[in-house]
This record gives sequence, structure tokens and C-alpha cells, in this order.
Amino acid sequence: MPAAIDLAHISELYRTHRDDLARVREHMRAHRRHTGHTMTPRLDDLEAEITYLLLRHNTPATVVEIGTAHGWSTAWILHALHDNGTGHLHSFDTTDHAPQHVPHHLTDQWTFTHGDVRTHTHLIPARTDHLCIDAAHNGWFARWYLHHLLPTLAPGIPVSVHDVFHQRRALPFTEGAVVLAWLTAHTTNFFTASAARAPHHHQALTDLKKQLHLTEPVHTSHRNPMIYFHLPHSATRARTAAPAHHAR
Ligand SMILES: C[S@@+](CC[C@H](N)C(=O)[O-])C[C@H]1O[C@@H](n2cnc3c(N)ncnc32)[C@H](O)[C@@H]1O
Repeated sequence: MPAAIDLAHISELYRTHRDDLARVREHMRAHRRHTGHTMTPRLDDLEAEITYLLLRHNTPATVVEIGTAHGWSTAWILHALHDNGTGHLHSFDTTDHAPQHVPHHLTDQWTFTHGDVRTHTHLIPARTDHLCIDAAHNGWFARWYLHHLLPTLAPGIPVSVHDVFHQRRALPFTEGAVVLAWLTAHTTNFFTASAARAPHHHQALTDLKKQLHLTEPVHTSHRNPMIYFHLPHSATRARTAAPAHHAR
């Protein structure tokens, strides 16, 4: 039974991996300076750090990332796999910006596929241990992965979805609204450090980071709209191929 993704667990992970995280934060700050205006980072600091910490704790063999853009989240994930000394990341994006931006020393543990993930599901390993989704933020795309991708994966794996809680509630018809309704239907909790949705989590982690001397921002946005959950058993089944035209 994996540890619940909650404030207590994440706080413990911040304490356990504090020194490694401080080093990675320095690397990511330098990476940001180095790439300058050519890089548009999306993940905010808390959600990038939580992703790093969960990967350090779970030491997955195989991670899948959908939506890399310029590779900001990719670099955070690869730092975790590099620090674990094991694991491989499979990333998918319709643009090919990420390979030009991900630091070279991290790419041994990375396979990038340029194209629409919906037509490349055969490249998603059946034994995926961790899934990060930050791609199209509409309901159509959410319905595609909820009905055609997630059921093919192993129950209990950690999943993250970005851009759910920019506000206290997900806007109607968005990816976030569809995923939240699906989580409710599967009686599955989620964790978020979103400033708008869970200000107490956001504040508690900000306070903890102050105590741990991890205060200087890497990326300046503070919204942290990502959610994290474990894939519910009731949502999984044998892998089936989904025609891409069903999933706009
Ligand atoms: C918000 S950006 C990702 C940001 C990145 N995770 C970061 O932290 O900087 C969303 C990306 O998803 C990609 N995308 C959208 N729909 C996709 C699809 N069907 N298959 C693959 N990539 C997709 C877009 O090209 C875009 O680069």
C-alpha cells in the first residue's frame, strides 16, 4: 500500500531530501538563468518540488510525462531519476522544444517522442510507475486519458495533473473539472498545494521551506494548480487501443 499523498507525507519528504532538493533548486535556478527568454517554465516551485520528492521516495523504474513544452518539468523529473541513480522517463509533446533545453547531462535517462501522445500510446510502457500530465487543458483531452490511457496502467501508481486549481474551483468543461468529477466517481482523494484551493497546504509548505532554508524562489509564480492522486483500482483494466479521432 503506497503512502498517502498528503501534507504529512510531503512534509516528511521535504525534511528527508532537504539537501538534495537544495542542490537541485540551485541547478534549476542556473538552468533558468542560462536558458533565459527561450524557456517558458510552467510548473511552479511547490509542485515541481513535490514531483521531485515523490519520485525520490518511490524510485520508479518508468515515468511517463505528457506535455513537456520547453522541458521545465522534464528537467525536474530527470533530476529526481538522476539522484535515484535509476529510472527512465518517456516524454511526449507535439512540439520538439524540450530536447533543445533539457540539460545534456540528464538525457541518458530520457526518451522523447515528438508527436500527439494519443497516436503514440504503443510507446507508453505498460509498466509505467508514475504519470505526469501537463498537456491540453480541455475536457476532450481529459476524457481521452481517463477512458483510454489510465485504465491500461497499474492501479495505485501516482498521477499528477497540472492546471486544475488556478482558482478555488476548476472551471466548467475544463480538463480539471472532468478529472475532479472522475475522481469523485471513483471515491479517490487528491492532494494539491494550490494557493487558491488549499491555502492551508500552501502556507504550511511555505513555512516548512522557510525552516529548511529553501526560500529563494526558482520560478516566481505561486499558484501551484497541480493535483496528485493514486490511480484508483476501480479505474483500471487491460490495455486497449483507442482511435485518435475519438479523442479531440
Ligand atoms: C503547459 S505546456 C507543458 C509545460 C511543461 N510541463 C513545463 O513544466 O514547462 C503543455 C504542452 O502540452 C503539449 N501537448 C498538448 N496536447 C498534446 C498532445 N495531445 N500530445 C502531446 N503533447 C501535447 C503542448 O505542445 C505543450 O507543449
